[in-house]
Amino acid sequence: MAAIGTNINKAIQLLKEGKLVAIPTETVYGLAANALNPEAVAGIFKAKQRPHFDPLIVHLYDKKSLAKVVDHIPTLFDKLYEAFSPGPITYILPRSEAVPDIVTSGNPTVGIRFPNHPLTRELLFESGLALAAPSANPFGYVSPTTAQHVNDQLGNTIPYILDGGPSTVGIESTIIDLSEDETRILRLGGLAVEDIFEITGPIEVRNSSSNPKAPGMLSSHYAPAKKVILGDLNELIPQYREHKVGIITFSEEPQNIEPGFVRILSPAGNLCEAAARLFKALRDLDKEDVDFILAEKFPEEGLGRAINDRLKRASFNV
Ligand code: TXA
Ligand code: MG
Repeated sequence: MAAIGTNINKAIQLLKEGKLVAIPTETVYGLAANALNPEAVAGIFKAKQRPHFDPLIVHLYDKKSLAKVVDHIPTLFDKLYEAFSPGPITYILPRSEAVPDIVTSGNPTVGIRFPNHPLTRELLFESGLALAAPSANPFGYVSPTTAQHVNDQLGNTIPYILDGGPSTVGIESTIIDLSEDETRILRLGGLAVEDIFEITGPIEVRNSSSNPKAPGMLSSHYAPAKKVILGDLNELIPQYREHKVGIITFSEEPQNIEPGFVRILSPAGNLCEAAARLFKALRDLDKEDVDFILAEKFPEEGLGRAINDRLKRASFNV
């Protein structure tokens, strides 16, 4: 199993040697390598069994480090950066020559994020590194929101997990493409699109599995091993009466159900709190003795949109 701790110097040393380190972020835990070392980055793909067509996000301390990895900075970037970074937003920008092809899957663009977690910010600041980091889970599975989640699945393949406690946002970053004339959202995530629209005005949300620009957005993704069924619990619960089921709801105890494996994500009805608890609930129910996980549709607003997106992908079994 990997060592787990809060030793930033150890993490920096390993990363500088070309090793992998799992890092905490406010969205989900990342599996990091030095982005400018292609052999180190290759280790990420191997550890996650991730296909090489799926590009990685590069994590930076602040925008002063951008010059290393980005070719030019679109005007809209500065406004968004001032409003939302560090935080749960990833910018797709024209890449510089210095970024290895393995990071961008050969794309002319690179995804950049400034994570907002104190330990990882200290790591980025002290090391001066640019860190390529996807979510620290085997490809296709639910993203980890604690050091233990990382250890459960990747503990045998990495030397060190930097433990920053549970991720507070709990759902991956929102991805915005600033590399083309038309600005678009490519992935719904931990920053509500309503907040982004206040800066950009209304822009297209192209959060579909058919989108070739974000190949990680496959129909089936973020999925536990158990079959997830998304819909109206009042209809689903009677339909699945003959089966052992786990249940995910927003704020209310479901009616007519034996007390069992129920996860109420936010009794207070707060979508941010629900997002922060979603992945842990999916992981927990995946380990229980249930045949199916029934989940209700969340309100299609704020982080509810990203929650519905992840549940939809989790329910799309191949
Ligand atoms: O919150 C997050 O974004 C987390 C934490 C660790 O920062 N990272 C994360 O990475 O979710 P990952 O690799 O699991 O998802 C990154 C997504 C993928 O769907 C990938 O296709 C897309 O970002 N992506 C990365 N670079 C891209 C690019 N140049 N153009 C389009 N999509 C890109
Ligand atoms: Mg991922």
